Amino acid sequence: MSTTSTPGASATDTLDVRDNRTGKSYTIPITDDTIRAADLKQIKVNADDFGMMAYDPAFMNTASCRSAITYIDGDKGILRYRGYPIEQLAEQASFLEVAWLLRHGELPTQPEYDKWVHNITFHTYVHENIKRFLEGFRYDAHPMSMLGSAVAALSSFYPEARQIHDPEQRDIAIVRLLAKVPTIAAFCYRHVKGLPFVYPDNDLSYAGNFLSMIARMSESKYEPNPTFVRAIEVLFILHADHEQNCSTNAVRAVGSSQVDPFSAAAAGIMALFGPLHGGANEQVLRMIEKIGDVKNVKPFIDEVKSGKGGERLMGFGHRVYKSYDPRAKIVKKLAYDVFKVVGMDRDLEIALELERIALEDDYFIGRKLYPNVDFYTGLIYRAMKFPTDYFTVLFAIPRMAGWLAQWEEMLLDKEQKIARPRQIYTGSDERPYQHTLDRYKRVSK
Ligand code: CMC
Repeated sequence: MSTTSTPGASATDTLDVRDNRTGKSYTIPITDDTIRAADLKQIKVNADDFGMMAYDPAFMNTASCRSAITYIDGDKGILRYRGYPIEQLAEQASFLEVAWLLRHGELPTQPEYDKWVHNITFHTYVHENIKRFLEGFRYDAHPMSMLGSAVAALSSFYPEARQIHDPEQRDIAIVRLLAKVPTIAAFCYRHVKGLPFVYPDNDLSYAGNFLSMIARMSESKYEPNPTFVRAIEVLFILHADHEQNCSTNAVRAVGSSQVDPFSAAAAGIMALFGPLHGGANEQVLRMIEKIGDVKNVKPFIDEVKSGKGGERLMGFGHRVYKSYDPRAKIVKKLAYDVFKVVGMDRDLEIALELERIALEDDYFIGRKLYPNVDFYTGLIYRAMKFPTDYFTVLFAIPRMAGWLAQWEEMLLDKEQKIARPRQIYTGSDERPYQHTLDRYKRVSK
């Protein structure tokens, strides 16, 4: 038996691996409870072997980066941005303060905050051609398709954003994205409704201006409902970041090609659209509407458990949280604040019953399936009269802050390179090409 070790490995904090194919042993360093997959490459049967790889479809147990932005303890139901508990931020901070925090790692000073808010407010208008671009969509276009396409299109308006290694260009691109995404999102809403676009009102807050662009009709000055403004602000904070989820991973992977941030952010929007990710809030409401009555809850849960029809309890379960999603608790409380203004939601009873039965059921307990952030958000959005297919847009607007912070962190991380996973090839071995199409047979005669 021979033993090889990786340079730098100390006696402790190492992992001894014995390859029973060759009898060789290897000592691999452990840092942060992690081994580097590249350290497995030295494990070979023959000198010309590629070396051992780690196989991890869906990244179930693979860290793709080091990140100082968001911390989640899924077992304890903890979520922190830059060390600050989500509950405290939701209660006391503003969304733009959180957006600054995510990017810079510290809360802003008053002058930093004032300048940040001023810059974002200053850049809320979009080029008139973006309006015309959006007008090209059909009346029934899904607003997530419109939003993703328009954000990708923004890249053509700001070619200087391709200079991603210039901090000033990164700065202005980040400000532009945070400023313009609510405007584009509101324009998507108005287009689908057949209503004229409302330009930004820079006297209002970030959330207040967004509601104005959504709802303003002939009023000379729109005054958003303060409960709705606060609800949007809190929901934006809760959705601002969530470490290496599907869309953030998409932004990092696409951004690792060194494309501009508008293009990388557009990739994030399209990843968020999926029903297992941001699209779940839309699916929760469709599921509740389909259940229709509280008496149908139990049969529905039984159907989910049977696995027949491929139904899932939407808004339940999470790759990381194996206890109650801390955001879901805040959202549930927020729902009652909104219902106090607009009246109780007719389907709240169905949602509460779904939650009650699921939390007592062995199927859900055994699999540690608890309500996630999407379970109650739909009811709040509906109470505020947003159409169901618009819900994921309300997730995408604030997630932009997280995507951009993660994108910049990835870019400044010296260890990061273009994202390029390996594969285990399972296809045919080499074989000779033979014509199988008639037209080729004719030609070759
Ligand atoms: N309803 C019923 N069964 C479920 C559910 C659910 N919502 N979620 C997971 N399971 C079962 C699943 O069938 C599997 O059972 P078994 O071991 O018998 O095969 C087990 O639980 C593990 O599920 P998984 O699919 O391996 O878990 P995952 O970590 O790959 O999936 C998830 C996580 C969020 C995609 C999944 O829980 C799900 O599809 N939930 C519903 C969609 C949803 O609410 N998504 C929003 C997530 S939170 C917001 C966001 O980050 O986007």
